[in-house]
Amino acid sequence: MIKTTAMKNLIREGIEDLVPYPPGKPIEELERELGIKGSIKLASNENPLGPSPMAVSAIMDKVHTLNRYPDGSGFYLKEKIAEKCKVSAGQIILGNGSDELIELLIRTFLSTGDHAVQAFPSFLVYEKAIKGAGGRMSSVPILSDFRIDLKGIARAITPETKLVFVNNPNNPTGSAISKGEMASFLNEIPDHVIVALDEAYIEFVSDDSVSSGLELLEGHPLLFVLRTFSKLYGLAGLRIGYGFGSGEVVDYMNRVRQPFNANALAQAAAIAAMDDAEFVSRTLSVIREGLQYLYKSLEELGVEYVPTQANFFLIKMPLGGKKTYELMLREGVIVRAMDSFGLPDYIRINVGLREENERFIRTLRKISEVN
Ligand SMILES: Cc1ncc(COP(=O)(O)O)c(C=O)c1O
Repeated sequence: MIKTTAMKNLIREGIEDLVPYPPGKPIEELERELGIKGSIKLASNENPLGPSPMAVSAIMDKVHTLNRYPDGSGFYLKEKIAEKCKVSAGQIILGNGSDELIELLIRTFLSTGDHAVQAFPSFLVYEKAIKGAGGRMSSVPILSDFRIDLKGIARAITPETKLVFVNNPNNPTGSAISKGEMASFLNEIPDHVIVALDEAYIEFVSDDSVSSGLELLEGHPLLFVLRTFSKLYGLAGLRIGYGFGSGEVVDYMNRVRQPFNANALAQAAAIAAMDDAEFVSRTLSVIREGLQYLYKSLEELGVEYVPTQANFFLIKMPLGGKKTYELMLREGVIVRAMDSFGLPDYIRINVGLREENERFIRTLRKISEVN
């Protein structure tokens, strides 16, 4: 495609420098190209058990009414979330994945040229969405122990700052913020700034001292907490996320929101998934047991890793992240190289099923011996 000057002049400022999110080929296509079968994917922090069975059954029941638009108010799902999380339905907003809520926050609060702050590395979508909307992003490097530098983030706020993104636990480091740290951070934030606290992985946290945004909402009217059904409930392919804020913040976001942004199957599935206690507890056991196995095996191999509070973690590879990714791919094990996150020596994997974790370790051993 020829990039004409006319096109360059047409696009919004900031778009020229963006790179498309790496699409990644479908597994079937990769297997065909590499001549392999039965590969495993540990690259996208997904639930290895599949979707919640109760959600699947709710989808089947709902399929017959797909001629109807979804409930644009998400009445029953919000009611369910409100009851479980002890907030009012007016403080909840639904999204086509929490990705959409990140964009919705930006479309509601950020004008062209406005400033935002994030940690780096963190979830790559924040910067992409800010720049795509003509905003400016300051990225505050994480600390040497992989924790988010909250003091640095507070210092990076200027009078033009509208939004701050904090990811707890942070993707890709898996580090988490304690209740005390979060409370003092929020107290430092001036009242012209919205804090978007992304808790996509909060349900995996095992450390009781870690902060939960829900407990902080009351004292902080400019705090917005994002959550998702993609991870714990295994519904990533369906696209459903939710957020909590003050009634006022949610009201403004609702003015910008597309009326049918949360689709009908996703709403039905999410309601059912929240009742699927067996699936939730099985998921948490698979993740915790998997982490123990992986930590122990990596220690035996003398490979460094970064302990996590999420369902994924970083591993330092003497071969480098990209090379490890390529070698593992040829063995049918798909991991994530961390060069685009500024960590070229690392890969990130999510915990898989027991046999997947074992295969990962076997493959790691094999490529380390050969290379
Ligand atoms: C930190 C973080 N936030 C948000 C998301 C997006 O989640 P969703 O599937 O709800 O759009 C992800 C997905 O990987 C994530 O890692």
